[in-house]
Amino acid sequence: MSEKDQVGFENLLNEIRTFPPKPEFTKDAVVKDRSIYERAASDPVAYWETEARELDWFEPWTRTLEWDPPHVKWFDGGKINVAYNCLDRHLAGPRRNKAAIIWEAENGRRRTYTYGQLDREVRQFGNCLKGLGVGKGDRVAIYMPMLPEAAIAMLACARIGAIHSVVFGGFSPDSLADRINDARCRVLITADGGWRRGQVIALKHNADRALEKCPSIEHVVIVNNIPGEHQLLHFMEGRDHWYHRLMDHQSADCPAEPMDAEDPLYILYTSGTTGQPKGIVHTTGGYAVGAYSTTKYVFDLKESDIFWCTADVGWVTGHSYIVYGPLMNGATVLMYEGAPNYPDKDRFWEMVENHHVTVFYTAPTAIRAFMKWGDEYPAKHDLSSLRLLGSVGEPINPEAWMWYHEHIGAKRCPIVDTWWQTETGSIMISALPGVSTLKPGFAGEPLPGVLATILDEAGNEIKTGSGLLAITHPWPSMLRTIWGDDQRYVDIYFSKWDKKTYFPGDGAKRDENGNIMILGRVDDVLNVSGHRIGTMEVESALVDHPAVAEAAVVGRKHDLKGQAIVAFVTLKANQRMSSALLDELKAHVVEKIGALARPEEILFSGDLPKTRSGKIMRRLLRDIAEGRALGDVTTLADPNVVEALREDYEERYGG
Ligand code: PRX
Repeated sequence: MSEKDQVGFENLLNEIRTFPPKPEFTKDAVVKDRSIYERAASDPVAYWETEARELDWFEPWTRTLEWDPPHVKWFDGGKINVAYNCLDRHLAGPRRNKAAIIWEAENGRRRTYTYGQLDREVRQFGNCLKGLGVGKGDRVAIYMPMLPEAAIAMLACARIGAIHSVVFGGFSPDSLADRINDARCRVLITADGGWRRGQVIALKHNADRALEKCPSIEHVVIVNNIPGEHQLLHFMEGRDHWYHRLMDHQSADCPAEPMDAEDPLYILYTSGTTGQPKGIVHTTGGYAVGAYSTTKYVFDLKESDIFWCTADVGWVTGHSYIVYGPLMNGATVLMYEGAPNYPDKDRFWEMVENHHVTVFYTAPTAIRAFMKWGDEYPAKHDLSSLRLLGSVGEPINPEAWMWYHEHIGAKRCPIVDTWWQTETGSIMISALPGVSTLKPGFAGEPLPGVLATILDEAGNEIKTGSGLLAITHPWPSMLRTIWGDDQRYVDIYFSKWDKKTYFPGDGAKRDENGNIMILGRVDDVLNVSGHRIGTMEVESALVDHPAVAEAAVVGRKHDLKGQAIVAFVTLKANQRMSSALLDELKAHVVEKIGALARPEEILFSGDLPKTRSGKIMRRLLRDIAEGRALGDVTTLADPNVVEALREDYEERYGG
């Protein structure tokens, strides 16, 4: 940002209105005053212990926190089962017949599971998995559309002590195979297909392509989501099983496995700064406490709420705020399989109206799309059931915040802008809607029990102003390691300052009231439409193409997506650039990773700007992609390269 832009930005921030909590909201809020912050600050470990006591434990823990930096154990010695906490414990009272999951597909199909029904289905499916040889500690891959069976599969794994690894259904066969192989999953649960804008996404077909490279998979369970069973191109006898056939006459007698608090609950892969995604490991007890407690406080959950988180179960948001957090709280969740603009651009608002959604949680990229589509779409519907709105996944720009506030929240609903990560397991920085003054663009204060601050490179605390976000004390739902690579856990997250301080990889800024604004990633990780993608992953996919010699990938600001992927590519000597090759390269990235990684722009270049020691200077490429004045070029091996690149880029993409 230039100095002039910076000053303009500061002025804009100072002009931003703030929104104190409304007395009519606070009156009935779960958190009505700030005493919770003081209690947590005086003893964070005791605070989390109090939260943990609200869950059902088979055996109490012996030590609340064991901290051997950078490794931690929470609630060690305790025995707990997360599925039991999501289901069994609600069955004794009126929640037995309360809706747990209300599901709707884009073609209007609907299914509702009460807590009693969901419990039975989870037990039965737990037995199906056992019948396929799955036991405690085994890894199970889940590659599913947004079906109730995705949640059932996760809960069934949790019930029998298997570790699930959910892979977003938009990932390519190669990405699925990499993830299955890294965790050596024994079983894959998938569906014949998913629906998106009236089209079938051929999930089983993709899974079959992945499985050609996955020797560890012994069985595949397929949910029938497309009418008829004929969609399968390939059904391997002995390996492949229809979900409904396995479930037929299956016993519902499936006791919940008493898990050690520190036993892994799941692995979820996320992008980092290398080409290889990281398997983030979450354990049972601490994760349960974090997901449960934050859902209750941040979303101000009431017995009568209809909670809709629009994320996909393939991402951590779906894990914590569609499945585990709300169900541990006994809430009713809405699950939707489909696109927000199908059959029309008011689909979400139609759903809010029809299901009387009270709490709505989505991503800024979606909000910006709604803004672009026009105010008339939400205006067509009665959204008066809404009482609280949430945002997650990327910084929300104040304009989008204000639109959300006015057009969805009718200036009535508080907005919680929740900062967290796959690694943190649950929300870390957010307003508490009954007590916080909201400031558009700012996530707010760290939640009670979370010690987040801002440090400079040397580790000095920055009270007001910008620097690097840091977390200085363990929290229960933090990742415990990276699957199969503990050293990488230490290096990435606990080596920036000291072994006690977690480095999330985000820049942040704090105002004089202690509100934190997240400024975005400071590493080579992009955030495209709220999805995390490593620049190295895209570069590896590009150089995998036979025509490509070298590639450098950067992000540039994008009105809707937040960031867009820009690739600079050098071809091998015998290759000619052409628009056909450009399309082919984009398709190749989709083929290797998935549609979410498709480059927005590719520029062919004779050379890339490098230092004299041969390191590509991505900073300069970012300057080019964002049309900024070039930064320091004195260390370049050949300064002419950047000027030529900039001219080409401006000619092709308008700078
Ligand atoms: O850069 C931050 C951004 O998303 C990253 C985490 O991505 P992921 O692990 O995929 O989890 C996304 C959903 C929790 C963070 O490092 N991010 C997440 N929430 C926010 C955010 N940036 C700004 N504001 C947020 N509320």
